[in-house]
Amino acid sequence: MILVTGGAGFIGANFVLDWLALNDEPVINLDKLTYAGNTESLQSLAQDARHTLVQGDIGDRVLVSSLLARHQPRAVVNFAAESHVDRSIHGPGEFIQTNIVGTFNLLESVRGYWQGLSEAPKEVFRFLHVSTDEVYGSLAKDDPAFTESNHLEPNSPYSASKAASDHLVRAWHHTYGLPVLTTNCSNNYGPYHFPEKLIPLMIVNALAGKLLPVYGDGLQIRDWLYVKDHCSAIRRVLEAGRLGETYNVGGWNEKANLEIVHTVCHLLDELRPRADGKPYQDQITSVTDRPGHDRRYAIDARKLERELGWKPLETFESGIRKTVQWYLDNPDWVAHVQSGAYRQWVQKQYHSGG
Ligand code: NAD
Ligand code: DAU
Repeated sequence: MILVTGGAGFIGANFVLDWLALNDEPVINLDKLTYAGNTESLQSLAQDARHTLVQGDIGDRVLVSSLLARHQPRAVVNFAAESHVDRSIHGPGEFIQTNIVGTFNLLESVRGYWQGLSEAPKEVFRFLHVSTDEVYGSLAKDDPAFTESNHLEPNSPYSASKAASDHLVRAWHHTYGLPVLTTNCSNNYGPYHFPEKLIPLMIVNALAGKLLPVYGDGLQIRDWLYVKDHCSAIRRVLEAGRLGETYNVGGWNEKANLEIVHTVCHLLDELRPRADGKPYQDQITSVTDRPGHDRRYAIDARKLERELGWKPLETFESGIRKTVQWYLDNPDWVAHVQSGAYRQWVQKQYHSGG
């Protein structure tokens, strides 16, 4: 079996669902169930004996060590993190705690477990750390895309905390020989994406008749990958990645934020036209920019393609259409995540002067 952390979040839930759709190897899912953890995303596994959800913190060494000892996983896939840049600007403390201290404690628990394994399971064991392209910093318009040999130059509390965790993972391999793999992926989108992030926020606000807040000039560029393609890349790296290596994951889909928002509006015009017949883009509004806002990210994923033969299946056009349709088809999931805590966040970020 495998141990997944953060498997009730956006990417982790997609990973667990896809994993169990593709094979029968059981998953222990350790998730703190913060505001971003959502058991409704895993509802289809409620009666499935192959999936066990354990509420807990990656930083809890007693809990993690006992889970490892009891279930003897052949791999740990670490998704657990605080993941939202804007929240890290308002309050970096949780990011330091989970992304750095939590990863440190997780590595120590895993190291203790791995060192105690007998030869055969020790040989096959893997620790896969899921990280982000944001650790590389920001690109100018004509810079080449990030490769694995770029320096880490993080600019936000979130990306600095992720870069720190990447360094810890690297050091645990170099110093203790822990068999680690790291993936650095670009912006994901798709089903079960919490509507604090750009694409789902635009969809839910548009449908609710609210404004669509674009930071600054809206010309910042992100490199978008459909979440299921990220999950397939993680499976492939877990299966065949070289120990101690990092692999960039991306789909060569650079888009300016304004283009993304217009695309979402056009799809909604087609799939769920406004009652008054007007276009959704009338709801777009420019708001105060994010402090320290990275201008451009772009991922060079050729190493993953060359070494492991991975390629994404979705184009941006097919992936974004599926995504908008998923939000239209799942109004209950959307309604339930917009809880009191979510409304407090929206008030703080968009209605209180930032
Ligand atoms: P998310 O915020 O949707 O989910 C994070 C999950 O981790 C939640 O279920 C939360 O409850 C859990 N969690 C938080 N702190 C925890 C702790 N201390 N112990 C155990 N569980 C904890 O995040 P996501 O978008 O699914 O991202 C998952 C991972 O992928 C993160 O490490 C993130 O840095 C990385 N990543 C995200 C993207 C993206 O575009 N979303 C891109 C590249 C990499
Ligand atoms: O690049 C990978 C990263 O992508 C992940 O590591 C992060 O966990 C994930 O949250 C994401 O970070 P971003 O900051 O790029 O994503 P976000 O959806 O918050 O914002 C995308 C872009 O849209 C960014 O340039 C800011 C802008 N934006 C965002 C929001 C929420 C707006 O213009 N308006 C908004 O309301």
